Amino acid sequence: MSQNLNTQELPTVPTPTKKIINLEHIFKIYGSGDTEVRALNDVNLIVETGEYCSIMGPSGSGKSTAMNIIGCLDRPTSGNYYLDDIDVAQMDDKQLAHIRNQKIGFVFQQFHLLPQLSALENVMLPMVYASVSAKERHDRATEALIRVGLGTRLSNKPTQLSGGQQQRVAIARAIVNNPVLLLADEPTGALDTHTTQEVLAIFGELNRSGMTVVMVTHELDVARHTQRIAWFVDGQVVHSHLTPGELNRVVVSR
Ligand SMILES: Nc1ncnc2c1ncn2[C@@H]1O[C@H](COP(=O)(O)OP(=O)(O)O)[C@@H](O)[C@H]1O
Ligand SMILES: [Mg+2]
Repeated sequence: MSQNLNTQELPTVPTPTKKIINLEHIFKIYGSGDTEVRALNDVNLIVETGEYCSIMGPSGSGKSTAMNIIGCLDRPTSGNYYLDDIDVAQMDDKQLAHIRNQKIGFVFQQFHLLPQLSALENVMLPMVYASVSAKERHDRATEALIRVGLGTRLSNKPTQLSGGQQQRVAIARAIVNNPVLLLADEPTGALDTHTTQEVLAIFGELNRSGMTVVMVTHELDVARHTQRIAWFVDGQVVHSHLTPGELNRVVVSR
């Protein structure tokens, strides 16, 4: 039989891609003529599966604009964006909302929890759109809260929790749908030093368990916890792979 084997007919095994974020020549232009603002001016950025990356740069350099596009909250004016190999740059709002719910978890500086709901109910919310049974929603939300160290605070409302605990509820909500990508925009901006360390410890643990984490921060001490820093200036990525050790040199030289 073996002499009949024709290697050209063997099924080809697809090479697993490692790019979770692939931004190619991304422009985001507001206004026109004299008032034109190039918030993103030819951004190229690749983040591979499993990376822990921070985005830094001066105020107005395009960090939030880039995060909104990466997070499928906004579309570029032009350019290609492949999220987990899916071409999302020109998707409409409904398609973007769907892909966002499936693939992305968000953590913001202000925790954006609903005050009238318990921690558990807040974490169950993202699954409302994911056609998950009530029991499974309850179980998965409980599991996510245990994972961030809040297993004993399930029924507390946000006002009954400290800032750090509220941010941990927000992290549980972000991971409950098992996203491939966790995005955080200044997640420690409203927290004190001690609580910042707690939140960074959770991000570190999520990353070690395989989740890709991308975080905007203006704090060097926060960025130092990540493996890699992308440095934005004037709507462009001027350094895509700074190590925390190289950061001082860049920041001091500016
Ligand atoms: N909706 C908008 N309309 C007009 N200009 C905007 C808008 N959003 C952002 N910009 C401009 O784009 C540039 C980049 O903004 P942003 O991404 O918020 O920067 P960063 O987050 O790095 O501070 C800034 O010059 C900002 O004023
Ligand atoms: Mg910003």
